[in-house]
Amino acid sequence: MARTKIKDILASEKTDYPVTVKGWVRSFRNNQFIALNDGSCMGNIQVVIDLDTDAELVKNITTGASLSINGQVVASQGKGQKVEIKATDVELLGACDAEKYPLQLKNRPSLEYLREIAHLRFRTNTFGAVFRVRHSLAFAIHKFFNDKGFVYLHTPIVTASDAEGAGEMFRVTTLPFDNPPRDENGAINFKEDFFGRSTNLTVSGQLEAELGAMAFSEVYTFGPTFRAENSNTARHLAEFWMIEPEVAFNDIVDNMDLAEEFIQYLIKYVLDNNREDLDFLAQRLVDEEKQKPQNERSEMGLVEKLEFVLNNKFERITYTEAIDILLQSPAYKKKKFQYEVSWGIDMQSEHERYLVEKHFKKPVIVTNYPKDIKAFYMRQNDDGKTVAAMDILAPGIGEIVGGSQREERLEKLQQRMAEMHIPEEELYWYLDTRRFGTVPHAGFGLGFERMVLFVTGMTNIRDVIPFPRTPKNAEF
Ligand code: 4AD
Ligand code: MG
Repeated sequence: MARTKIKDILASEKTDYPVTVKGWVRSFRNNQFIALNDGSCMGNIQVVIDLDTDAELVKNITTGASLSINGQVVASQGKGQKVEIKATDVELLGACDAEKYPLQLKNRPSLEYLREIAHLRFRTNTFGAVFRVRHSLAFAIHKFFNDKGFVYLHTPIVTASDAEGAGEMFRVTTLPFDNPPRDENGAINFKEDFFGRSTNLTVSGQLEAELGAMAFSEVYTFGPTFRAENSNTARHLAEFWMIEPEVAFNDIVDNMDLAEEFIQYLIKYVLDNNREDLDFLAQRLVDEEKQKPQNERSEMGLVEKLEFVLNNKFERITYTEAIDILLQSPAYKKKKFQYEVSWGIDMQSEHERYLVEKHFKKPVIVTNYPKDIKAFYMRQNDDGKTVAAMDILAPGIGEIVGGSQREERLEKLQQRMAEMHIPEEELYWYLDTRRFGTVPHAGFGLGFERMVLFVTGMTNIRDVIPFPRTPKNAEF
C-alpha cells in the first residue's frame, strides 16, 4: 500500500480506513503505544500495537528506530489525539542503538549541543519547525517574484570579481599550493590556474543580476554566497543564501517599497501556512524568555511580533537622522554604547538595534549613507557626500537587507571606481551596461538566514541553516 503522510492523517477527522505509515519512533510506552513522526508535520501519530507482538521486534522499537506500519486509522480512546492507528503489521526498517542515540536524553538537549549532531537535529521538534519554515520561505520567495513577472537569473558561484569590494573572498584554485607556478616577477602565475585567472567564490550575484535587469527589466537571484569575514557572531555565516532582486527603471523609493512589500509578503505566507510550527516556536521562545531577567524579556510574542511587522509601515529615516537620534539618546549620554557615534561611522549592531528595538520599536529603513562606507556601485547624491543606499534594520536582528539605487551614469561610476582603486579592465562588462542603453535602476539583497532568524525567533544564525559554515567549522 502506498505510504500516507502523518500530516494528512492528523489533518483529517476521517476514521476506519487502512493506511501504511513510515517514520521514526519518538517514544514508546507500555510496550504498546508508539509515537511515530515522519517529518511531514510537528505532530506524531499514535500507533497502538498488539500486546502479543513478537518480543524480539518489541525490543527493537526504541526512540530513533525506523518503522513501516500497516494498520487501521481509528478514533482514539485516549486523550491528546483524535485519531490513532491500530497496527496490523509492524516492520522494523532500521534499528537504533538506544544507548548511544544522542536524542534519547531526558532533559531537552541544548541548541549548542544539537549543532554538533547536525545530522540528527532535524529530528527534534525545534529544528523540524525551523526547517519547515525555512522551506516555506524559500517557496514564498519564488512565488512572490514569479507572480510579479520577475525572471529568476542564476548568477555564477565561481567569479573573478569582488562585487562588494570588501576583499572577503574564498579563493578557487587547482594550483598546487606547496609549489605554485610563478611568473617572471616571482608572483603566483594564475594564467596556469584552472580558469586561466584568479577566481573566487561569489560574495554577491548583484553585478551579474544588473546585466539581466538591462534586458528583462526585472530579475532576481537566490543562491549561496560566500564571505571569508572572520566575524564569529550570531548573525554571520561564511556560507549564506541571499535573494537579490534588480529592477530597471526603479529609483530608491521604488526599491524601498518593493523590499517592504516583499518582507511583509513572506511574513504573511508563513503566518498563513506554517501556523503549527510558528505556535511551537512561539512557545519555545516564551519558555526561553522565562530564564531571562524581567527587563530583558521581549514585550511581544513571536506571532504578535510578526503580525505587528505585517500590519505596520516600516519607519524611513536618513542616515544623518539616525546618527542624530543616536547622539540624542539616553544610551549615548549614559555611555552605554561600546562603539563611538559620529557622522561617518559604519553603524554597529548595537546602534542599529537601539534604533529598531528602543527608539522606533519597528523595522527601520535607513537611506543616504556616507559614500565612504558603501560599495562603489551606489548612486551618488548631489550633496557629494552620500549615496542612495538603503539598509533595512529589523528588531532582534539588525541589518536584514542592504540595497541601493545604482550609479547608472558612466562617468560618475568610472570616477568612483578610480577613487576606490577598482581597475576598469576587470569590470568592463559591467561598465558596458552604462554604455549600451543605461537606465536608472535599483536592487537589494535580503540575507535569507537573517530572514529565517527573524521569522522563527531563533537567536543564533547557525540554528537556521541546515549545515552552518563559520570560522573553524565546516563539519558534515
Ligand atoms: O549588505 P550586503 O553586503 O549587500 C550586498 O551584497 C548587495 N550586493 C546586495 C544588493 O544590493 N543586491 O548583503 C546583503 C544582506 C545583508 O543585509 C545581510 O542580511 C546578509 O546579506 N548578509 C549576511 N548574512 C549572513 N552572514 C553574513 N556573513 C552576511 N553578510 C551579509
Ligand atoms: Mg550591508
